Amino acid sequence: MNNQLYGAPVSEIIKRRTSVRTYLDQPLTAEMKAKLVEFFPKTTEPFNVTIRFKLIENDAAQSGSPVKLGTYGVIKGAKTFLAAAAEKKEKNLEQFGYAFEKMVLYATSVGLGTCWLGGTFKKGEFAKAIGLTADEIMPCVSPVGYPDRRKSIIESVMRYTARSDNRKSWDELFFDQDFGNHLEKTDAVIYQEPLEMLRLAPSASNKQPWRVIKENNKYHFYLEHTKGYAKLLAYDLQKVDMGIAMCHFELTAKEAGIDGKWLDSDPGIKIPENTEYTVSWMEKGK
Ligand SMILES: Cc1cc2nc3c(=O)[nH]c(=O)nc-3n(C[C@H](O)[C@H](O)[C@H](O)COP(=O)(O)O)c2cc1C
Repeated sequence: MNNQLYGAPVSEIIKRRTSVRTYLDQPLTAEMKAKLVEFFPKTTEPFNVTIRFKLIENDAAQSGSPVKLGTYGVIKGAKTFLAAAAEKKEKNLEQFGYAFEKMVLYATSVGLGTCWLGGTFKKGEFAKAIGLTADEIMPCVSPVGYPDRRKSIIESVMRYTARSDNRKSWDELFFDQDFGNHLEKTDAVIYQEPLEMLRLAPSASNKQPWRVIKENNKYHFYLEHTKGYAKLLAYDLQKVDMGIAMCHFELTAKEAGIDGKWLDSDPGIKIPENTEYTVSWMEKGK
């Protein structure tokens, strides 16, 4: 049985994805746009929140009603953006991250570049372009386009500042039974790959706030908030990071044939400062 969601193993696509901030001056073909639209996730699982996607053209040069989409100079050359709106509801930021990352990985699988933008985009202009209602939020957008191999100076600076090529070690992220014990890779058994793919996930300013505790057949997901970070932003982007991590973990597990589901199952164990429980993964039939 082929469990693949994309044209290649999801772990390969996760490793291939990187933030692209410099694009070729070449619009997406109509066929490519249609493919993206067809892949828009329709599910409201796991948090029962609706996410509405839209491709937006940055065709300021066109006559009629020009749309201007600003990124404070961070993104160069992109003509199309992927935007999405989430209904105002509990866990909508996590759901946003989870659903939007599925699109980011799909775009990666068809050779397009993306870059999560939660801070450096002009919210008002994008809100107008997607027709944001009072009952919705739009925490992030992403350019989608053909990557330019050359990087702009601002792109190199951003990668250097966020230390984008680094990830925290396995020991800092994954625990066994409680936060006092590190999870040995061998004890993760079939979950070694899903956890490793979670570890490679992108996160706002590369803060990597996700922590996971294995408790027998359950994996509990926690968010360790970076002090003062959420205050700087309109939305708590670290909750979006959490959704992205869930997406990587679930897609990798499913592709490996693991059948599981998300549930609210806080084990009530002692947690470090600034940390909160989000959700648990439970393997079915166990
Ligand atoms: C929720 C979220 C918000 C982000 N916001 C921005 C942003 O506003 N501007 C930007 O240039 N990069 C942004 N990034 C990209 C991160 O800096 C990047 O993912 C991280 O440094 C890791 O690098 P990589 O994506 O190349 O692996 C964001 C990433 C995430 C997940």
